[in-house]
Amino acid sequence: MSDDLLPPLPQSWQTTDILGLENLSLAEIRIWLDYAFRFKKLTNDCSKKVPILEGVTCTNLFFENSTRTRVSFSLAAKRLGAEVVEFSASSSSLSKGETFIDTAKTLEAMNVDTMVVRHQTPGTPQLLTEHIGCSIINAGDGPHEHPTQGMLDIMTICQHRTDIKGLTIALVGDIAHSRTARSNIWGLKKLGAHVVVCGPPTLVSRQWERHGIEVSYSLDDIVRRADVLNLLRIQFERQYTRPFPSVHEYALLYAMNRQRLEMAKKDILIMAPGPINRGVEITPEVADGPHSVILNQVTNGLAVRMAALWLVHQAAKRQT
Ligand code: CP
Repeated sequence: MSDDLLPPLPQSWQTTDILGLENLSLAEIRIWLDYAFRFKKLTNDCSKKVPILEGVTCTNLFFENSTRTRVSFSLAAKRLGAEVVEFSASSSSLSKGETFIDTAKTLEAMNVDTMVVRHQTPGTPQLLTEHIGCSIINAGDGPHEHPTQGMLDIMTICQHRTDIKGLTIALVGDIAHSRTARSNIWGLKKLGAHVVVCGPPTLVSRQWERHGIEVSYSLDDIVRRADVLNLLRIQFERQYTRPFPSVHEYALLYAMNRQRLEMAKKDILIMAPGPINRGVEITPEVADGPHSVILNQVTNGLAVRMAALWLVHQAAKRQT
């Protein structure tokens, strides 16, 4: 199938790698969003196969656990007709002493076109671009960035609110350790949102004010004026000290529950990147309630990842 189903890649899309939303221009973010909506429509809400990447090989290099991101990238590639190679760090030759770079070079020598990388160390996808010629897409690098998660969150807000500009969007929870928070912040700021970060002082730095972000330590203060609440998981696996006395106390102060929902705007959007911890950052009645768009985020993740795979492939083709 030809790719004339889509408009040609705009000149302002330059990159063959997607490492984060911080280093994408506003024009590139808008292009990515536009193609994500096109793919959503073209594939009948991400359900139908449109094989416009036949002959392309994508590999998923995941060094950290994942449900959503790994499955979503695999399905996105398959829906576009690409071949997918799943790489598992635990059963690879890394355990025999091979370096990460040598492993990636070995895979590249098998004519892989795109590597989707998740790693616990910030900067790993950037490091790969310095050694590898194929396209690299960051699927989450430690607490640094998770660009496809940021974009699927942005796409979900756009789907329900048309325009991001002027909306008050609060990211609540473990901002300090969250790559999702960072990607949201950079993307949402470029698109003109008023971004609030909210959580305990041990997990939310005042330094964000230097970037034009509002910092709040009280969910009760912001819940009344927020258009969107994105509830982030407490990332215990990245913490070396206890950031609050108990999970129970955290939930009392920062969980989105029915009482807080009653104080909120009538059309508030409740989002969560997942995995969610029911009863910690969100109660089940809110997670499964009418304001929740959590599963909608998951579906949009397919569209965002189809667009990402297509965009980097088109950009690489243009360079050859
Ligand atoms: N949101 C997210 O990245 O989920 P996974 O860790 O399951 O991929």
